[in-house]
Amino acid sequence: MPGISKPASTKQFLQKYGPWALVAGASEGLGATYAEELARRGLNLVLVARREALLQALASRLAEKYSIQIRSLPLDLAGPETFGRIIAETKGLEIGLLVYNAAFSAVGLFLERTLDEHLREIDTNVRAPLGLVELFGKRMLQAGRGGIILMTSLSAFQGSAYISTYSATKAFNIVLAEGLWEEWRRDGVDVLACIAGAIRTPNYLASSPRQTGRFSDATIQPEKVVAEALSALGRQPTVIPGAVNRLSSFVMRHLLSRRAAIRFMGFILRGMYAHTEPDRKEN
Ligand SMILES: NC(=O)c1ccc[n+]([C@@H]2O[C@H](COP(=O)([O-])OP(=O)(O)OC[C@H]3O[C@@H](n4cnc5c(N)ncnc54)[C@H](OP(=O)(O)O)[C@@H]3O)[C@@H](O)[C@H]2O)c1
Repeated sequence: MPGISKPASTKQFLQKYGPWALVAGASEGLGATYAEELARRGLNLVLVARREALLQALASRLAEKYSIQIRSLPLDLAGPETFGRIIAETKGLEIGLLVYNAAFSAVGLFLERTLDEHLREIDTNVRAPLGLVELFGKRMLQAGRGGIILMTSLSAFQGSAYISTYSATKAFNIVLAEGLWEEWRRDGVDVLACIAGAIRTPNYLASSPRQTGRFSDATIQPEKVVAEALSALGRQPTVIPGAVNRLSSFVMRHLLSRRAAIRFMGFILRGMYAHTEPDRKEN
């Protein structure tokens, strides 16, 4: 069955997931790393993000280095024009791989962030990936091949204080990917939720996490996340990059009670982010 076996080589990867990939959230960090690895494998790229200058610099560098075609599409994925613009810009392109990487995380206590910020998390992390999965998934099913990677987070395995809405949106992505993996795998379309722990990206570092003793070195490099995600695509519905993350996820989900996992996650996130909050009594 075409959707179940793992592509064994770059050539097979290109045949299964090429000739074009769309990376949503590609201007820096993990998204740019996905773009570079896909370019290295010979896929042409549609790169989407808001910062046009960063996108264009990346596009020029990759086009020259890998001799591929690249289209940069500067837009806000949370905006109302997203789907219309993407439909217009990808007309006639055979997109065999969609990577939804963009995310918005409003870090802080729930009521200290605005409702607009919470809704922006829904628009960026739920509405936009859902729409793009519907758009490109339909085309991939018609073609009988393709792949979709949704970036999500270990924080989605239980309620996570300080990022409650973000973690809830990421839970949506895990469950959506799992359902579609089962629906589409026999028709040649592979869906994967990449469930990451902390990654050393500019976005993560900009959220000002405080180093929390033994947990401070738990971040992994974007290259490792991309390598593990691309290798898991077509083989399984979810992947947790990094052995330490797989171990901690096992403990959190299978050895601790759900209540204990929620409290432990709260403890970690309070240590990382309580300093970003206005003074408040802990109880
Ligand atoms: N970093 C971590 O520790 C970590 C942990 C677990 C899961 N993840 C997941 O991994 C993915 C990437 O994480 P990251 O943000 O740290 O890394 P990133 O890939 O370095 O940055 C996010 C990218 O998405 C773009 N983007 C964000 N909002 C957008 C919007 N509204 N419209 C268009 N583009 C947008 C950003 O570019 P512009 O600003 O130019 O638009 C940027 O290129 C996310 O899905 C995140 O939930 C990350």
